[in-house]
Amino acid sequence: AGRLPLAGRHVLITSGPTHEPIDPVRYIANRSSGKQGHALAAAAYAAGARVTLVSGPVDLPDPANVEVIRVQSAAEMLTAVETHLPADIAIMAAAVADWRVASEGAQKIKKDGSGKPPALQLTENPDILATVGHHDSLRPELLIGFAAETQNLIDNARSKLERKNADWIIANDVSPQTGIMGGDANTVRLVSRSGVEDWPEMSKADVARRIIARAAEALKG
Ligand code: C5P
Repeated sequence: AGRLPLAGRHVLITSGPTHEPIDPVRYIANRSSGKQGHALAAAAYAAGARVTLVSGPVDLPDPANVEVIRVQSAAEMLTAVETHLPADIAIMAAAVADWRVASEGAQKIKKDGSGKPPALQLTENPDILATVGHHDSLRPELLIGFAAETQNLIDNARSKLERKNADWIIANDVSPQTGIMGGDANTVRLVSRSGVEDWPEMSKADVARRIIARAAEALKG
């Protein structure tokens, strides 16, 4: 048998949502299932890579033969990612919460009887993709992000490519009627500095295999 395309390579992948604590019993979350990120981890292993999967809370089995690091919040995800670099390829497929609660309550927040709800003060989370993209020593050779949008897909993907210093952005339309969030299929575009490729609708497993095959070619070239 020939040498697998990613033999000897380390691939780091983020997947799933993050949970941002409000108090000991409540959190802010989003609808990411982790299916695309987990499929990428499986595809990278099948291509011969050593794979680290940093995953937020998901309802999926761990992909076989992959080192899985489980985290809750964006801050924990950033620490786990930085701990597991360097990597030849990093793919940030997690739906990281943009905001967290500025000061997590030490106790469960109670109704105070006034009828006035508490005000949650939010603060911005670190951008993991941008942090890794701007690392001078630890930036992976190929850095791939996702852009889930409901409008202006390509413009938004292009500006993410620049702002986060990624090599590719996999852009997908997550408008509710597409059924992509939580579903098994995905329709994506690969946005790079050399242009935009439209891919047909495929299963998330096929999208993953195609991204990994392209990434292996890019490392060679
Ligand atoms: O800016 P936006 O959240 O749309 O960017 C999406 C891309 O950036 C995804 O690849 C996501 O994993 C990554 N991201 C991140 N850390 C954040 C926000 C997004 O790594 N705090």
